[in-house]
This record gives sequence, structure tokens and C-alpha cells, in this order.
Amino acid sequence: MIYLDNSATSFPKPKEVYDSYKNAIKYYHSNPGRGGYENSIATADKIYEIREKTAAFFGEKNAENVIFTANCTTAINMVLKGLLKPGDHVLISDLEHNAVVRVIEHLKRYSSIEYDIFETDFYDDAKTLKSLRMSLKAQTKLVFCTHASNVLGVCMPIEQIGSFCKQNNLYFAVDGAQSGGILPLDMQRQHIDFLCLAPHKGLFAPMGTGLLIGDGSILDTILQGGTGSQSLNLSQPSFLPDKLESGTANVCGIIAMGAGIDFIEKHGRERIYQTDFSHISAFWKALNEIPEMDTYYRLDVARQCAPVFSFNVHGIESEVVADMLANKGICVRAGFHCAPLAHKKIGTTQGGTVRISPSFFTNVNEINYTISTIKNLLLNF
Ligand code: ALA
Repeated sequence: MIYLDNSATSFPKPKEVYDSYKNAIKYYHSNPGRGGYENSIATADKIYEIREKTAAFFGEKNAENVIFTANCTTAINMVLKGLLKPGDHVLISDLEHNAVVRVIEHLKRYSSIEYDIFETDFYDDAKTLKSLRMSLKAQTKLVFCTHASNVLGVCMPIEQIGSFCKQNNLYFAVDGAQSGGILPLDMQRQHIDFLCLAPHKGLFAPMGTGLLIGDGSILDTILQGGTGSQSLNLSQPSFLPDKLESGTANVCGIIAMGAGIDFIEKHGRERIYQTDFSHISAFWKALNEIPEMDTYYRLDVARQCAPVFSFNVHGIESEVVADMLANKGICVRAGFHCAPLAHKKIGTTQGGTVRISPSFFTNVNEINYTISTIKNLLLNF
């Protein structure tokens, strides 16, 4: 099997992650923060160690501002529903995932929150910033922007958008689902207030892990419940992380995520990124020159790009291409990738795209085999 669907979830994970998970389920077996006995305390300490490690990795000063969630979608819901009040206005980019779009649409319908979509330019950051500036309203409270499109890999100039938000007293939230662990993400340098992440992708964590980083003390809770603290208090504790972490944590997933971060630190995030980038560049170079192929983003002029590559073969449905590749043992995703705005932008709302997303563990032979398989499909169709 050649696995090229790392944008959905990464596979394989580093051996250290598997080992860590197995170790955690056996040795960190007690509920953290719920008991005063040795193993419960050891588990709580271990979780705190990973909170600190995660904070350091993403340039967050305060470990309590690292909130473990069930997935990135939960983190995004926590920001949007916890921050916005009736009458507020939000700006989102034209590349957002349904994890943002459906939530904001729901808030518009049921909570009188308005939103507008600003236009991104793949090659000209000044144009993106101009569109953002032109969309600003007196009621705008928040800019929510993906760091990298899950359809195209295109990256947003988040540092500049962060500065813009700071200058205009706006909150800035980033969906880093496709970039966390791969591209530089720094809460302070990029002026990010809230960072939502999918650690089971770029951080090599198991599925069922998510992260919200930022000062969640200003967010209303969307989930209340047991925290192991202030148990006689009928109200949710107001301090972090307890305010935003109710219920038993995904202890094994969090511990394995820590091993994923260690792996990235050991091999170097930049080296991982360069490997990923060389893979998608190879796809782009090989497929872009074939007239029967449609590609949507020029990687030869890309400033930076998450390891995501979309294409179509003329006359063949994206799902049919994906099925044909699956028959050859190649795993890719086809269709709309839960990202309607991106498809509207590139004109693929009829059939979507075939999406290839390699990882640090993909090797050159797998890339070459996939390229030749795609070329053969075209010849034999
Ligand atoms: N959001 C994930 C993807 O793009 C699941 O495939």
C-alpha cells in the first residue's frame, strides 16, 4: 500500500509514537487529576509535561493556554461559539474548511452573527491583505483564517494577517490543521490569539486528538462538566485548562502526541517540511506538463506550501481516478474534501479534485510509482 492521504490523517506514525501509546495504555492507566494516589499523579504530571512541550513548540508562553480537545473541529467550535456574541461580525478566508464555514453559518442563522469572506490571492499577499482590509466593518471582532488550504496546500500570510488584526484590535484565530508540525507556527511572532490544530496529522498523534492554544479564559464554555477540581462548585471552574477541559482526557493520545513532537524536534521541522515539499513538487512537475491534467496551484512560484496537491484528469471523475489508484494500492482522497469555498474558487464544484498528500515517511519510489500509475491511467482510459 502507498498511503498518500496524510491530509486526512498521517500514516505511518513514527515508531516512537506507537511505543509511547502502548506504554501509556499500560503504565499511565489512571485518571489524571481525579486521584491522590501515585499513578493518577504520575499520569497528571505526564499530561502537564506534554502541555508544556506543546506550548514551547508553538511559541505559547503559558502552558495552561494549551487545551486538549477531541479534534480540530471541536477547537474551532470552542473559539467561534465561545467568543462571538449577537451582533458581532467575523471575516473568514475563501479557503476555509467546513469546520469553520458550517459553524459560522450556524451562528449566522441562530445567533445573529454576521460574517463575510475575504478573497485570498495565491501569489500576491498584498492583494489578500487588501481584500481583508476592504472587508472590515465596525462590528468585526474576529478574523478566522486557515494557515494552509486542505485542498491546495496554499498558505496564507498569517504573520501579516496577525499584524493587521493586532493593529485593528481584532482577535485572530488560525486553523492549522494542515500545517501544525510542518510549517512554522508561533503564537507570538504571528500574533495568533487562538490556534486550532489536528495533531493526528502533522504531529503524528493518533486520531481523537485536537488542540486549542490561546488564552481561553475569555471564551464562554460550550461544554461543562467534571474537571476533578472544585467539585462542590456547581459552576464550571474559571481557571485554565480546567475551564475548557471537562471529562476524562484522551490520555494515551496526548502522551503519544508528545512522542510525535519529540520526533519532529529530533528530525527537524524544516527538514520534514523540505521532504514533504520535494514530494509535492515532484507531482506538480510531472503532472503539470501533461495537457490532459488540470492542476490548480503553481508550485514553481509558491512561497510556501503544505504537502497537499490537487489535480484532475480531463474527462474522468475525481472519484473514478481515486478508485483506479486504490485498485493499484494507492490511497488518495477525491471529491470536495469538506471545503466548498476552495472548490468554488478554483471552479471544481462539479466534481472536486483528486488530492495527494504525502508525508515525511513517503519515499521517492512511491512518488515515482504513483506518477507513472496516473500517467498510465490516462493512456488506458
Ligand atoms: N480535514 C481532513 C481532510 O482534509 C479530514 O481530509
